[in-house]
This record gives sequence, C-alpha cells and structure tokens, in this order.
Amino acid sequence: MSRTDTHHTSSLYMAPLRGFTDHIYRNTFSEHFSGFDLAVAPFITGKKGDKVPRKYIKGLLPENNTGMPVVPQILSKSAKEFILLANHLFNIGYETINWNLGCPYPMVAKKQRGSGMLPHQDMIREFLDHVIPALKGRLSIKTRLGWQTKDDIFRLIPLFNQYPIEEIIIHPRTGKQMYEGTTDLEAFEKLLSMTIHATVYNGDIRSLDDFKRLSQRFNTVNRWMIGRWALVNPFLPLMIKTGKDSISNKTVIMKRFHDDLFNQYSQILSGPSHLLDRMKGLWRYFSLAFKDCNIAMKKIKKTRKPDQYTDLVNHFFEAEAEWFE
Ligand SMILES: Cc1cc2nc3c(=O)[nH]c(=O)nc-3n(C[C@H](O)[C@H](O)[C@H](O)COP(=O)(O)O)c2cc1C
Repeated sequence: MSRTDTHHTSSLYMAPLRGFTDHIYRNTFSEHFSGFDLAVAPFITGKKGDKVPRKYIKGLLPENNTGMPVVPQILSKSAKEFILLANHLFNIGYETINWNLGCPYPMVAKKQRGSGMLPHQDMIREFLDHVIPALKGRLSIKTRLGWQTKDDIFRLIPLFNQYPIEEIIIHPRTGKQMYEGTTDLEAFEKLLSMTIHATVYNGDIRSLDDFKRLSQRFNTVNRWMIGRWALVNPFLPLMIKTGKDSISNKTVIMKRFHDDLFNQYSQILSGPSHLLDRMKGLWRYFSLAFKDCNIAMKKIKKTRKPDQYTDLVNHFFEAEAEWFE
C-alpha cells in the first residue's frame, strides 16, 4: 500500500465530548452523516455500592445506541468502582471499556482523577493490577501527555507495555493546556516508537488537509479520533474516508440534522430552558462552519422561547447561512 492510500483503511472514532456527543447526538449523526466507525461515549463516573441502576447507564443501554458501535468510558481512580461498572457494561453486551486518564478539568484532576492521575505512576500500576484480571472484557485507555508536564507519559508507556491493553488513545496535550495551545507532535512521534500497543491519534484534526498531513507523518497509525471539528463540520469524517470533499448541499443537510436534534431533545429534555441551553451549546460549534454569522448567533443566543428560537434558526438556514469552504 502506498502512503497516499492510508486514508482508505483508517478507522475513525468519534471523540467523547461530554454535554454534546450523547446517545441522541450519536444516533442522529448516524442518520445524516457517515464516516465514523465507532464512538467513544462521554465518561460516566465510578459508582459506589453494588448495584448499577438502569437510569445510571441510560445513555449506554444497547437499545438506545443503534446508530454506531460504542465504547463506553469510565472516569474513576477506584479499581473497585471501575470493575463493578465495567463488568456491568460487559454483561449488557459491550466488548471494550475505555478508562479516562485525560480529563483536564481542575475539579477532576485535583482529586487525582483523569489527567490528575498521570503523575501518580504507583496508583496507576495498582489500578491496572487489580482491574485487568477482574474485567470480563477488554480495556482501552484515553490519555494525554501528562497533567502539568509531558514527562508523565514517557514514564507511563513502559508501564502500559506490561499490560494487555486494547489500544491507547493519545491527545498530545497536557492537562494544564486544557484544549488550548499546540499539540506536541514530536512527543507523540516518540511515544509511537516506545509503545507496543495500538495507538489512536487524537487532537486538532480540523480538515482533510490536517488529516493528510498527520497521516503522512504518522504512517503507522491507522486509528484516528476526531472531536470538536466533527461537531463543527460533520461531513469531515466522510471527507477523510473518501479523501475528497464532494458533498454538495451542506447547509441543507445541516439544517435537517439540526431540526432532527431539536426534535429529539425536545422530547427528552424537560423544559424550554434545558432544550435551548443544549441547542445554544451546539451552536458554539455549528457556527464555526458558517461565514459571517455573528449577528445571527447573537440573536439565537438571546432567545428564551423555543418558537422564537425555531424562527430565528429557520431564517438563518434559509436566508443567511453560507458554508465555510
Ligand atoms: C466539551 C468537551 C467535552 C469533553 N468530554 C470528554 C469526555 O467525556 N471524555 C474524554 O475522554 N474526553 C473528553 N473531551 C476531550 C475530547 O474527547 C478530545 O480528546 C479533545 O477535544 C481533543 O480532540 P479534538 O481536537 O478532535 O476535539 C472533551 C472535550 C471537550 C471540548
């Protein structure tokens, strides 16, 4: 296979974006777009006690996830809690569970969870020693370069190499960086040469060109995860899969997708303010796909009534929206 062919065989993963890529979004996405091979679901946290109530994993119930294959994700530093929840998810049919070792939010990280656990090699070793033999299925890991510094990951890869891990998803930023600043591609390249595990690249794939550049540089990687920029441009996964941008009517398709999401959310979110908050959150990303839409977005942000929201959005799509090429 030549280097330029790599995009045909790559697997593309929808990144977990808490507050955005829930089961409604994932299912609706699958009805309007293609290109993703699977989604890692946003994290659920470990559960104390011995029972997992149905409500706790509602968004992960197989009957609520018919659109695309899903890998559930758990955020926890407790082996006991992780094992309980993960085995419950294996029992209802999942084959792989992802461990969140990357969450950068100070509330999470300060408690040595997510990226905040990365400096604590001994805790991670103990966790894996307990969890891996007890799991009824496979474990994958999603991580960053470290919490405060990228040194963390260089110490951890030799540790990870001692365990059977399905794959390691790496977002090459530190926790401290949150989602800002540049990704450290040199560090990622070094990690690739150190790890024995399948590695998924994640971070700042904004366009087909970005993907081409990254896939040429990391030509042994064939699993890629895309988050924010697929929220902005849901056509991106298919563009990457086909290696070209041949989709017309983007605005029309985007409107149908939006309307579908609005209808679905209006059925499950209680009260107009929850519904509008959710939709306004999505527009923070959707808006980046359209030219000169600041005025329209300001109006949409101010709406308090669903009817008014719908009128404004319809007007935007029908009269103003111009897809950014
Ligand atoms: C709003 C938001 C929510 C996120 N939620 C999660 C999450 O639940 N689990 C996780 O592992 N990563 C989460 N992430 C990180 C993304 O999965 C991804 O690693 C990051 O956005 C970088 O990829 P991107 O540049 O393609 O977006 C979140 C990111 C954002 C911006």
